[in-house]
Parts: sequence; C-alpha cells; structure tokens
Amino acid sequence: KLLVGIGGFAGISAVSPTFLLAACNSETPAGSDNLAATPHGVEKGPFDVNLRLRAQPDTVPILPGTPSEVWRYKADLTKGSPGTLTPLGESYPGPLIRLRQGQRVRIQLENRLPEDTTVHWHGLHVPPDVDGQPRLPIKPGDDMTVAFDVRDRAGLYWYHPHPHGPDGGRVGFQSYAGLAGPLVIEDDIERALGLPDGEQELILILQDRSFAGDNELTYLDGMGSMMTRMQGFLGDRILVNGRPPETRDVGTRAYRLRILNGSNARIYKLAWSDGEPVTVIGTDGGLLAKPQRLPYVTLAPAQRVDVWVDLSQAEVGQQLSLVSEQYRGGMMGDMGDMGDMGGMGGMMGRSALPAGAQLDLLGLRITQRVRDGRSLPLNLDSELATPSVTAATPIRRFELGMRMMRGFSINGRQFEGATVADDEIVALGDTEIWEFVNDTMMPHPMHVHGLQFAVIGRQSFSDRRGWSGLDAGLVDAGLHDTVLVLPGERVRVALTFNDFKGLYVYHCHNMEHEDNGMMRYYRVRA
Ligand code: C2O
Ligand code: CU
Ligand code: CU
Repeated sequence: KLLVGIGGFAGISAVSPTFLLAACNSETPAGSDNLAATPHGVEKGPFDVNLRLRAQPDTVPILPGTPSEVWRYKADLTKGSPGTLTPLGESYPGPLIRLRQGQRVRIQLENRLPEDTTVHWHGLHVPPDVDGQPRLPIKPGDDMTVAFDVRDRAGLYWYHPHPHGPDGGRVGFQSYAGLAGPLVIEDDIERALGLPDGEQELILILQDRSFAGDNELTYLDGMGSMMTRMQGFLGDRILVNGRPPETRDVGTRAYRLRILNGSNARIYKLAWSDGEPVTVIGTDGGLLAKPQRLPYVTLAPAQRVDVWVDLSQAEVGQQLSLVSEQYRGGMMGDMGDMGDMGGMGGMMGRSALPAGAQLDLLGLRITQRVRDGRSLPLNLDSELATPSVTAATPIRRFELGMRMMRGFSINGRQFEGATVADDEIVALGDTEIWEFVNDTMMPHPMHVHGLQFAVIGRQSFSDRRGWSGLDAGLVDAGLHDTVLVLPGERVRVALTFNDFKGLYVYHCHNMEHEDNGMMRYYRVRA
C-alpha cells in the first residue's frame, strides 16, 4: 500500500465551484499567445548539458526496518560536463543538479507516475513554457523536453512538481511523496571567493514527515486532515536529506551549510546549540553583499539560506549542533501551540512536537585538528544588484485571506487556472512594488515565479506579528523568491519583470494553502 490517505481533502472540496462563479472582474485569456505547441524555452543548441529526469514510484530506506514507498526523481546525464550530477546521500531526495551560469541546458522530463505532474525550477529566471507551472502538465507515461539558458546568480535553487487538477493542487502530496531536488548554480563571482567546497560544503534539505506502523509515509489521514488543510502539513519527525538527522565528523575549519526548507508547511527556527549567532552569507537568490549575524534564522517553506560556520577555534572532542527551536504560533495563537500540533492538533490525536523543544538537525563532532586559513570574506558580492524603486514606482496590493472550509485566497480570489484579472497584468521591463498584507492568523510564505525580488519593507499593523517568535530571524537582505509574511504584517517587495513575457504564477508556498486556492496567475505583457 502506498501512503495512507492520499485521496485529497476528505469531505472538503478543494476549490468550491460557487466560489469560482462568484469570482468576478477577471479576464480569461484567449489562450493562444502563451501556449506554445511544444513547450521549449530555447530552440537551438548546442547544449552544454543534456539531462534526463524521471519522476517515478520507488522504495527507499528512510527509517530503520522496512523501506518506505516514495515517489522520486532519478536522473541520467545524457551528455554534458562531468560533475553536473552529484549524488546527494542516496540521491533521495534529489539528485543534486549542478549548473553554471551561462550554460544552455536541455532536460527531458519523463512522467512515470500514475497521475499528471510538472517539474518546476523554483527560483530560476526561465521562460513561462519551461517553468513547470500547472498550465502545462505532463500526462502519465508522457515525456516533455524543456531547455533554457542558465541566467541566475550562483545559489541554491530547487525543483519540485507543480500540478493542479480539477479537485485542487497536488503539489503538497507529490512533494511529500518525495519529489524534490536541489539545483546549484555556480558563477565566477562566487568562485573567486573561494568559499568552503567539497567535504566542507554541506547541502541540507529539511522536510518533516509522519510514518505509520510499517514505515509508511502518512499524509492526510482521519481526523487530522481538516486541521492539516488549514495550517498545512506538519509531520512529527524531521528528516535531513531524506534520512533521520545525523552527526558528522568534522575538522577545525570553516564549513558552508546550504539549507533548503523543502517542507510542505513547517517553518524552522535555525540556531546553534551553543547559542552563538548564525552567520548568513546567502539567501534564495544567492550571496548577500556582506555577511549578516542573527540570533537564529527563520526559514519558511521553499526558502534557502547559506550559512558560514567557523570551527577553527573549536577543540577536538567538542560537539556542536544545528537545531530548530519550536516556536509558538499557528492558526489561532491563543489556543495553544498549533504550529507544532501540540494544541488542537494534539487533541485530535496527532503526535506532537512540543513547543520550546529543540530538534537536532545536524551534529558536528570535531575529530580532527586541521589548518585551513579560510576566513569569512568581509564582502561577498559588491556588485549585487537589486530592483531599484523611486517614489513613482507603482504599488500593487495583495490581501491574503483565509476562510474556514473554503481554503485560502489572494485579494478575495482563489486559483482559477490561467485566468488573469485586470490587476494581475504587468508590463515587460517594468519595476513594481508588491505589497502582501496578512490579516490572517497564519504565516504565509509568498512566492513569485520567474524572478528574484528584493524585500524593501516590513511593517506590522497589529501585535500578532510577535507571538510567533519568528520575527528576529527574518533575513530580508539580498535577493529572494519567497518572503515570509507573518500574521499582522505588511511586506513590500520590489520586482522587475525582465526578458520573458507570458503567464507565471504567484502563490503561498505553504503547499496545502497553495493546493487549496492560494495561488493565482499573473501575466507579463509586452
Ligand atoms: Cu516552489 Cu510555485 O513553487
Ligand atoms: Cu517557484
Ligand atoms: Cu499560506
């Protein structure tokens, strides 16, 4: 039996048809200008990298004992520079795809799942037709070839499914089943810094999961499913790179931890067990201009953070852990620790990760004294360019909404396929400010496809922001594709719509919110 409770949200229709009818003043595109017959970003080679990426069911060892049934990606390099594919642990989740800025890449996608899927290149600046958005599904048994030029800065990006059917999205389920992988882009600016690499570069994918008796992954089962749908899936175990957290032997030198929150809905509060500040050198869209120190780092679903840790002063025999501190918060703050299923979730019979607990994510055991004079660069990328705004830059406002039993909305609207309203059309080459206003009781990590933006303002209009205990860990510097908007906050981002016209989506990256309506298309017009 594959996974318990895969049948969507029992008893609750994903997007209510009445709501769809009620959503007005929107324009359905005639359909032709963006639907290329063959989705293909670049027509002509030669290609520097040729990959084949297959989504398929499989069985992998996760916990001790019986292996678990999963859905996963497998990749072959059909032609290209050696080292493009690097196995990451057992390659589940994964595999890690390494690309270099300027490369021209062709990828043959193969759907060997029993349902539609897509492959989305999260964070990459690629044309709409190769973006893996819900409009262009790959049917079971079918293949699709996509190609693009790697234009992005060096950074940790990722890929995951993005299908949306008539009964709602399948992103949460398919990602949970195991479809996700890291994608690293390298460039000359990063290379010149000589950051820790090889064994000193650790890529960590954080995901939470729940298991039933025989190590079966469970998603939405029984009484928990309604809660899960509202607050997003929260598992009772944290996996790092698809396995229980582990301790590694390290030397007295600097390490680079590149962390992806690949969880459906869980927000992490990353800290060092010895209380030292966390040194951040990069975000979603690559390196910061300068390193930043924070007491802890708040990492919302889909976000990445690049962390420098210097162990050169440590003694052999010492041990340090990267932990995630459980925070208070959730749908209704005063009802308990809903964010961790300790409140009403606990009452509903789900096992709990208690609030205040520290979860170990990675142990570093210092076993070796080594000399490696690498020290933290004072400047990381002095040329870092972010969209620039003036008093005349137009502001577009997005109100984030939640309704009991009806899922989630943006400006009162839910997902309606490729339908774009008048206020969801932007012009190619323009810079705009988008303001996300969160008057709900839950945090929403808002994601925009096709670009990286700058976070230019964050303001709270109620005292709700504080109760989550996540605000001191927000990293707003640098470039982002996903920004966490806490309850009671309004957050402004600056975006420039360069190079590609057509349809993209923007949505909440709490995958259950996204699957239940909190996603819309926007159009870049000429
Ligand atoms: Cu991580 Cu719409 O994507
Ligand atoms: Cu994305
Ligand atoms: Cu949300």
